[in-house]
Amino acid sequence: MATKREIMNLELTPVEKGAPIHFHNPVIEFYEAVGGEEGMRKLMYDFYDKIYESDIAHFFPQDEAEFHEIRVKNTKFFIQICGGPKVYENEAKGMDLNEFMIRLHDDFSITEKSRIEWLGTMREALADKAQHVDIKLIQDFWDYLEQFSKLTVNSFADGSTYYASYTQAKED
Ligand code: HEM
Repeated sequence: MATKREIMNLELTPVEKGAPIHFHNPVIEFYEAVGGEEGMRKLMYDFYDKIYESDIAHFFPQDEAEFHEIRVKNTKFFIQICGGPKVYENEAKGMDLNEFMIRLHDDFSITEKSRIEWLGTMREALADKAQHVDIKLIQDFWDYLEQFSKLTVNSFADGSTYYASYTQAKED
């Protein structure tokens, strides 16, 4: 169990241009506790509803059907990356899932501000849809998002672009 307050207090550390990033995939216990495929769908659909109302909505397709398609793909990615069935496998075209996802974001100019908005939106979705999950498991899922999202930031305030290097924990 977790309170809304505990979830909203999950920490956000700033991106540092040039700093290597280390992350590990979420433990499967989070996926199980959130309610498997159905629980993940509820969480991610809520996240995408909130994205539609957020300051980064303009990044996403404005056409409702196209937006929904991204929502469905996003849900499949998270089901697989959290240890569930490999429902995103075909999308990644044989690439490592995380590598595929980082490269997919290269097509967008993502700043630290956008990353903070994305994470803030996810934190609200967790606060609304994951209160039945142990805070330690939410923390583990958050650690993945918090670190991994740094790899989607490629545009900096000085006008430069930079694509960070990373290491992924081998036990994944
Ligand atoms: C932990 C960090 C993140 C993860 C795991 C993640 C994951 C995903 C996934 C799974 C998709 C759907 C991919 C598909 O079409 O198959 C997606 C799409 C997208 N993401 Fe992220 N994302 C992250 C951070 C961000 C951030 C910070 C932004 C900032 C704006 C962002 C912007 C987008 C956009 C614009 C799309 C839609 C792409 C399109 O129109 O085809 N993402 N993301």
